[in-house]
Amino acid sequence: MTTLDTGIPLFVLGQGTDPHSERGVDCPGELPPASDPDLVARAVKAKATLGDRLFVLGHHYQRDEVIQFADVTGDSFKLARDAAARPEAEYIVFCGVHFMAESADILTGDDQRVILPDMAAGCSMADMATFDQVEEAWDVLTDLGLADVTVPITYMNSSADIKAFCGRGGGAVCTSSNARRALTWAFEQGEKVLFLPDQHLGRNTAVLEMGFSLDDCVVYNPHRPNGGLTDQQLRDAKMILWRGHCSVHGRFTADCVDEVRARIPGVNVLVHPECRHDVVTKADQVGSTEYIIKTLEAAPAGSAWAVGTELNLVKRLAAAHPDKTVTFLDRTVCYCSTMNRIDLPHLVWALESLVEGQVVNQITVDPETTSWAKLALDRMLALP
Ligand code: 13P
Ligand code: SF4
Repeated sequence: MTTLDTGIPLFVLGQGTDPHSERGVDCPGELPPASDPDLVARAVKAKATLGDRLFVLGHHYQRDEVIQFADVTGDSFKLARDAAARPEAEYIVFCGVHFMAESADILTGDDQRVILPDMAAGCSMADMATFDQVEEAWDVLTDLGLADVTVPITYMNSSADIKAFCGRGGGAVCTSSNARRALTWAFEQGEKVLFLPDQHLGRNTAVLEMGFSLDDCVVYNPHRPNGGLTDQQLRDAKMILWRGHCSVHGRFTADCVDEVRARIPGVNVLVHPECRHDVVTKADQVGSTEYIIKTLEAAPAGSAWAVGTELNLVKRLAAAHPDKTVTFLDRTVCYCSTMNRIDLPHLVWALESLVEGQVVNQITVDPETTSWAKLALDRMLALP
């Protein structure tokens, strides 16, 4: 437990047995209370004081109270490019989750500091693939003589050392907006892909966009010997999918799609590719957060949409398109709890600390990891 200076105890996900605990989630100094009516004015003032020295990035899943202060918003691919395109900014405040801030640190200059306003803003999917587990899996493939023909591809939602592993192993990073292009590139380099850590993005892309069959895919469980697979299964597979998933998108079910179609005749179902395969198969369209936003912008007035992605974004889309019906695909799925950790008190605290000359919650990736991870990220950024 930790407390804000209101004395109200707060449960912090990153403490205790949670994997984020090693990041150290206690904020040094004093956070302003969430009830402070001056928070907006304080954020405006701190931003104005810092001027061009500061660049604030906001992922589409961030809260409204935070996103209003973002200089740019985007999906994880766009934000990685935006961070890399601002060499003059001394401070990059990343309103998103830990792996995104790491990627920003990797892609920005040594003199630039990347700040994550709350260190507990991790990603449960990224935590499902640790470096040791992935090395162990690679050893299994090496013993079978398969490592030489396997290209490791990791989703952006992974730690920097997993990205570095892929860079070192001749592979690349991908995001939900370029997974097909990354996989096409990978199959030009080798015969198989080890896809980390999101099994759903890997399966959905391979089967629905590239013509592979479900039988071409196997799921490697890092908690079982040999990934829970026979040697023959590993030899036959084209796509070796890591057993990871998003705890938010994984909650949408095929029943949600049936239910919304029955409730709203003519509704278009639009989902993120982190959703399960049966959900994506039943949907009308699938794409990254940026794709979802653009699709709704282009949709005709009067059309109806059920969107299967994080709730902050869906609520903003509904507010932005009063001429269309925009509804959440499932009534019980909620916010991404780690994205939501970045709130206005944490943002104000980070900005005001910078004004005082104190860099808090800096995300730093060591030089060796940076160089290999950058190779994997650069391969992604160079995809046609
Ligand atoms: P995007 O790549 O679409 O931004 O998604 C990132 C993410 O974390 C989705 O859960
Ligand atoms: Fe991770 Fe899912 Fe949250 Fe995205 S929505 S940051 S994949 S837990």
